[in-house]
Amino acid sequence: MADIDTSKLSWDEWDELQNPPPAETDFDRVVESAISRRGFLGGILAVGSAAAVMGTLGNLASPTSAQAQDAASRFAFKPIPAFTDNTVHVPEGYTWKPLAKWGQPLFSNVPDIDPVNGVSVENSDKVFGENTDGMELFVIGDHQVIAVNHEYVNNETNLPHNEKGMPKSADDVKILQNLQGVTVMEVAERENGWEIVLDSPFNRRITHLTPMKIAGPAAGSDLIKTEADPNGTDCLGTFNNCGAGKTPWGTYLTCEENFNGYFGSTDPNFIMPDDFKRYGIAVETRYGYETFDPRFDVSKNPNEPRRAGYVVEIDPSDVSSSPIKRTALGRIKHENAAVVIARDGRVVVYMGDDERGEFLYKYVSNGVYVPGGDTSKLLDEGTLYVAKFVDDGNGEWLALTPETTGMKMDEICVFTRQAASKVGATTMDRPEWVAINPVAIEAYCALTNNTNRGVKKNAGGDEMPVGGANPREKNAYGQIVRWYPENEDHAGGKFKWDLFVMAGNPDVHKDAYAGSSNINSGNMFNSPDGMMFDSTGLLWIQTDGEDTNEGDFLGQGNNQMLAGDPATGRIERFLTGPKGGEVTGMTWSADKRTVFVGIQHPDAPFPDGEGKLPRSTVVAIKRADNALVG
Ligand code: FEO
Ligand code: CA
Ligand code: CA
Repeated sequence: MADIDTSKLSWDEWDELQNPPPAETDFDRVVESAISRRGFLGGILAVGSAAAVMGTLGNLASPTSAQAQDAASRFAFKPIPAFTDNTVHVPEGYTWKPLAKWGQPLFSNVPDIDPVNGVSVENSDKVFGENTDGMELFVIGDHQVIAVNHEYVNNETNLPHNEKGMPKSADDVKILQNLQGVTVMEVAERENGWEIVLDSPFNRRITHLTPMKIAGPAAGSDLIKTEADPNGTDCLGTFNNCGAGKTPWGTYLTCEENFNGYFGSTDPNFIMPDDFKRYGIAVETRYGYETFDPRFDVSKNPNEPRRAGYVVEIDPSDVSSSPIKRTALGRIKHENAAVVIARDGRVVVYMGDDERGEFLYKYVSNGVYVPGGDTSKLLDEGTLYVAKFVDDGNGEWLALTPETTGMKMDEICVFTRQAASKVGATTMDRPEWVAINPVAIEAYCALTNNTNRGVKKNAGGDEMPVGGANPREKNAYGQIVRWYPENEDHAGGKFKWDLFVMAGNPDVHKDAYAGSSNINSGNMFNSPDGMMFDSTGLLWIQTDGEDTNEGDFLGQGNNQMLAGDPATGRIERFLTGPKGGEVTGMTWSADKRTVFVGIQHPDAPFPDGEGKLPRSTVVAIKRADNALVG
């Protein structure tokens, strides 16, 4: 890592570089000894499996003309081409404006970010954080309140006077810690469009330093106790907040993803506990917190990283409420948390673990949700399951219990990846967001890409064979898998699955890497990541991929947002982001006449134009005629 400038990498890229899967395995050696065979056989297998899977797409591949006409009516926009420039593009008849930018104040006595010096330590927890990600809008009385994640910071731009942005003091560390986490902010549509309501009593920052509670089976466990918290029930901060979710009882779920990257060791010879390897906890970190804040030094506080990697519940209606880490939902690199109520009223939460060859999970509560009833234990008492996808289009949810894993409940909730490996879950191509169709009993997961598919094992030593829901070797484009719960019950144990789309490039490839039949030169993309359904049942797909517009990615332009019709498979491009940026996170205004979309880590001088600081931004998109947008 030493000679690579890591400050420009996205967090996912950084984590892959820092924590590659085991460099060489027995499997590698076998393959290397027959490398020419691998090249041939791998290609055949990829095409063969993909063709079989594409067969399951049924009428996706060739919609009837009636379906095509229906499809046309589902998209209330004229699709746009790919772009490679420094701004956001939306279809004709739509407009966009920034709502909230990194460093923008939430309170009237705080200045906007200084483009030369950044945000001061005093103001760092009073401004909109950096690198916006998952978000949800809540209607609280007459107020509209958005809770939005800040996944990570670019240390070079936040500590512009430090070499490579590395902190030189505890205050430097605090600036970075405060600019990540979550913003809760009231928003309102005024004469000049949507704005943050300065000084609203709802405005709040939740950071790497905010006190929070630990609940569920791991609360009080010896695995997570520290000197500062001998009870194992109270911790500080939420980390690498990626995707999100919303409960029917009005709380926000923020998901801790690449938490491992914040914990390091000042002692290079410290022997890491065995469980650290699976999660990629290593001596070196991106931000160097451990140098100035011993909480992040695993040689002094080895249990501290086990207190991160959870889904955290936040009540956006009460600024004094403590966020709660819900350990029953497992400790993984959580992408998002998609919540649905099962037929009998139990709460189901689908969750992806975003790393090459990790798994897709589901939590089912013991109790049922009753509007207005007690919801305090619904995310603490239940069963965690992990998905097994069988190549023939069937699947099942494997329970993670003491009986199935031989592990105690607290161990299952802290070492969740290890538990899932024990029951034989299917290694997936990096599960990112799950989205649940509100008008059909089905759910979708974006499998963003996995260039190690068919080549290496995952970090736990599980094989990553080519086939089934992960049908392509060295999968650089990604796919979206969809499942239909047995008996139309999200709490059920079995499901059928197919692929909604395999991304690809039909201009460059003629085999499975061209993508499925619903991909063409006009709508192609790579690396699906964020996904949400709107209230009409259209699936919105956001990408976090290669935007070189060269080679395998020629013609795909910048990262983008598309809409997909579950009924026909038709996919059309709605938005393109600025160069270098990722499009991630979306939510709608109460009246559904505005959609808010997040632009993360732009390289381009976005949104303020040439010569200005690139700023991660939430934009508000409307139709010129103020019609509904989802
Ligand atoms: Fe934070 Fe997997 O994206
Ligand atoms: Ca993501
Ligand atoms: Ca991603």
